[in-house]
Amino acid sequence: MKVLEIQGGHELSGTIRISGAKNSSVALIPAAILADDDVTICNVPEVTDTDALSEILEFLGASVRRASESIVISPKTIQNKEIPKELSKKLRASYYFMGALLGKYKHVEMYFPGGCSIGARPINLHLKGFELLGATIDINDDRYVVDAKDLKGANIYLDFASVGATINIMLAAVKARGTSIIDNAAKEPEIVNVATFLNNMGAKITGAGTSRIKIVGVNKLHGCFHEVIPDRIEAGTYTIIGALIGKYLKIDNIIPEHIESLTSKLIEMGVELEIGDDYLLVNKPSKYNPVEVQTQVFPGFPTDLQQPFMVLTTKCNGKSKVEETIYENRFMHVPYLNKMGANITIKDRVATIKGPTELIGSEVEATDLRAGASLVVAGLGAKGKTIIHNVEHILRGYENIIEKLTDVGAKITIKEI
Ligand code: EPZ
Repeated sequence: MKVLEIQGGHELSGTIRISGAKNSSVALIPAAILADDDVTICNVPEVTDTDALSEILEFLGASVRRASESIVISPKTIQNKEIPKELSKKLRASYYFMGALLGKYKHVEMYFPGGCSIGARPINLHLKGFELLGATIDINDDRYVVDAKDLKGANIYLDFASVGATINIMLAAVKARGTSIIDNAAKEPEIVNVATFLNNMGAKITGAGTSRIKIVGVNKLHGCFHEVIPDRIEAGTYTIIGALIGKYLKIDNIIPEHIESLTSKLIEMGVELEIGDDYLLVNKPSKYNPVEVQTQVFPGFPTDLQQPFMVLTTKCNGKSKVEETIYENRFMHVPYLNKMGANITIKDRVATIKGPTELIGSEVEATDLRAGASLVVAGLGAKGKTIIHNVEHILRGYENIIEKLTDVGAKITIKEI
């Protein structure tokens, strides 16, 4: 078991370079199965979630070589076999093996995925898409067998613009016979990144980034070289830290448009921001205005930044509100923020934060990835020492978090207990 120890209250300045997007990489790694030759993906973050997917690929017989920030996947030696429970359960994104294996081999056997406990998180929309493409699905307890004699292009309307369902259906449809249309598709930048990857392999996908994606099936997909986009959630987390304790903190190697919903809220709050072509310069203000935020699908305010952002609202002069609309259970950081001195109450899916309050270092627990990130933000801004348990959650999604924060002046260490 590892814990993070943070001595809070130190101003941060310098540059933090943002890594490749975890939520793109976790789809690109399974998607590599679809190619007939080697695939090179660069800018893949070294986090435990990407490691877990490489482990599944290796279990299936692929060769996976990591060289610094790149990963080279050779899918030629893959054997399509059941992915065991202990591998599927390691993370949410193991569900992308369903779409990828179905697309390539027309047959998948695996267990329901794992991931952060932040709500029910069913995969009914993924399955609906597979069925419309011609697959049959047999579910026994947690074990899924998805099989298709033939995959045929179809029109698929998603009741909700789900990121995972959109990507998984694209993976299954790229080699189907004929044309598929996904309507009410998710528009997140990760979708565009995955569609570009598939097109680099020879797929014919248009409309990614809009709510209607068209996929014309092809017979073969070849190897390719591809680059992961910068992680907008990592960028947003460090920008929030900058807004709390930054002095000209530069968040570098980002696509600022991907976090516009965050930067516009920060400006409304009174945070000083310089927005460059591929960077942000952020400064802590002397006073914060209260704000209201509602999580939305892209380009709305991302649910994945809701928890870290809430820490900032504890500093606002007055009452702020944060509404979580995507997940049923993404407020598990709140009792810990209150333990640290915040004044937050929850009614249904709305958190009301009364500020400003001082945060005091405390012993807390990361219950999920972004709850953990919010406790790191709080610990850095708090007076005294914060100890965060269950750090494993944080290491799933933030590459070199200790080094990145230490380099800009934070006092943060990781310890085995
Ligand atoms: C992706 O999850 C991300 N995970 C999540 O990142 C992120 O919070 C989420 O998209 C929203 O942006 C990965 O990319 C691996 P969804 P995903 O399908 O694809 C409901 C993080 O912290 N739903 O868009 O699983 C679902 O229950 C994480 O990095 C259905 O009802 O999200 C949820 O309420 C956590 N049926 C909502 O839609 C379905 O079949 C959004 O889910 C699918 C989803």
